[in-house]
Amino acid sequence: MLTRVAHLASRSVRYLQAGPDEGEAVLFLHAFPLSADQWLPQLLSAPPRKRYIAPDLRGFRGMGQAGEDFGPEAQSMDDYAADVAELLAHLDVGAATVVGLSMGGYVAFALARRAPGRLARLVLANTRATADSDDARAGRDRAIALVERNGPIGLGLEMVPKLLGESTRRDQPDLGDAVQRLIEANTPDAIVAALRAMKTRPDSTDLLAAMPCPVTVVAGAEDAIVPLGETRALHDAIPGAELVVLARAGHLSNLEDPRGFNAAIESAG
Ligand code: MLT
Repeated sequence: MLTRVAHLASRSVRYLQAGPDEGEAVLFLHAFPLSADQWLPQLLSAPPRKRYIAPDLRGFRGMGQAGEDFGPEAQSMDDYAADVAELLAHLDVGAATVVGLSMGGYVAFALARRAPGRLARLVLANTRATADSDDARAGRDRAIALVERNGPIGLGLEMVPKLLGESTRRDQPDLGDAVQRLIEANTPDAIVAALRAMKTRPDSTDLLAAMPCPVTVVAGAEDAIVPLGETRALHDAIPGAELVVLARAGHLSNLEDPRGFNAAIESAG
């Protein structure tokens, strides 16, 4: 597995890659407020002939290296999706299996809107197609204030217990610290930009009846952020979609149950 930086026309993007430089591509879009490193359990067990690619969404993690211009923060999910489409073009990938978890799923919907030809298959994990409710928008404002007051550390301390399911908190006590470290590696600016972009993201339910590719929906039965019932409703709204429920996973299902998650990706690919 390699860490690389792609120098695109508009900016630089850090990404992780496992597998060959050509061949069937699988693109991983991370959750808020993590980074490409969220996908290490997937990249480290990538099937030999597949090209696994996991970029940091704009502003996350890959900041501040000399000579690299990561550009201004994102304003919208569409900005993240534009970067991803540009990265795929740069890497000579036509269409990929796109795996989006939570915020990564919001970006995948934006990609489906602006560049449907880039999607060979779609795995939507622990995510929703709806826009933020009024309550959720108020929650974004509270989270912005928290980051401005206590930084990524404070946000992490509040979020991590909610991100992981009950089984994980009991059986994998170290995972919470690992997630906290991923959160702390981000800048406050990147986190605040993502909160604003999520708060203003459009509703994507109009896309569900005619998705441009086959879809697998992955749920964590112990997900406290996107409850199982909501994920089932997302699945039911996508004709022909497959549903995989990971019984002992919460919101960060790829980290909590890597085996089950990897099997879901392979069944999708
Ligand atoms: C995520 O995991 O990406 C976030 O929980 C998404 C959100 O806050 O809507």
